[in-house]
Amino acid sequence: MKIRKAVIPAAGLGTRFLPATKAIPKEMVPLVDKPTLQYIVEEAASAGIEDILIITGRTKRAIEDHFDKSYELETELEKSGKFDYLETMQEISNLANIHYVRQKEAKGLGHAIYCAKFFAENEPFAVLLGDDVVDAQTPCLAQMIDRFNTYKSTILGVQAVPDSETSKYGIIKGEELGDRMYTVHDMVEKPAPGTAPSNVAVLGRYIITPEIFRCLEETTPGAGGEIQLTDALRKLAKKESVYAYDFIGRRYDVGSKQGYLEATVEFALKRDDLRDEFLQYLKKTVAQTDAK
Ligand code: G1P
Repeated sequence: MKIRKAVIPAAGLGTRFLPATKAIPKEMVPLVDKPTLQYIVEEAASAGIEDILIITGRTKRAIEDHFDKSYELETELEKSGKFDYLETMQEISNLANIHYVRQKEAKGLGHAIYCAKFFAENEPFAVLLGDDVVDAQTPCLAQMIDRFNTYKSTILGVQAVPDSETSKYGIIKGEELGDRMYTVHDMVEKPAPGTAPSNVAVLGRYIITPEIFRCLEETTPGAGGEIQLTDALRKLAKKESVYAYDFIGRRYDVGSKQGYLEATVEFALKRDDLRDEFLQYLKKTVAQTDAK
């Protein structure tokens, strides 16, 4: 079955980025000149996703405006002959059919995904988390869909993380199958340091079968008092096959300040219009800082 739908949870408060996120959604904070959420939506669209459900909340209206058509702006850009910008603006509103639902209370990622039950309509669907931006030659979700077409079951996007960081993630307990695939026997959300079953972490990309909604109905609050998607996926792994795929690409945790800064610098260095001057500036700044 073709994966046509994706869910992007974007209801979080963005406390790690206050005060920037006091009045604007954290998903709208830009990397260079594009909101982080747009990178995620573009990844989904380039993987063939036609319909995207963004789970939003109060204070997130800027997200809807961003992906909508802006008649005033487009008219002004056309009048002033700024056709490059005009085209870029039009591309944004044509990326995919974007739907929205509000998660009324912040009850966790599992609860947010449950808000997509009506949208999934009993089809397997993709989930992309906004804090995980992946730079890859073949977009991460396209790689995952490719594996789904072979395995036809739930697939979690994973990569190995340093042992010191396992407590930040959902960690899998599984068995390597070769060719970057694992079977998942069990999972644990944010294990206490030293207790992780492996160092293979789920990093914000999932393809999930609709049986997850029944599992979510049976899931009680877990880590942090929230309904955890990881806990529902554990249940799913007991009912049907769950796999993990070690995706190829550089993943940035743009929800952390360090990850955000790394992504900003590296994305700027990839831009033809910025690279040379910015690189010179960086070299000069590093040399001056080292000399101090
Ligand atoms: C969420 C998931 C976690 C996953 C992580 C990836 O955690 O609950 O399993 O490993 O995203 O970034 P969060 O970072 O939202 O606390």
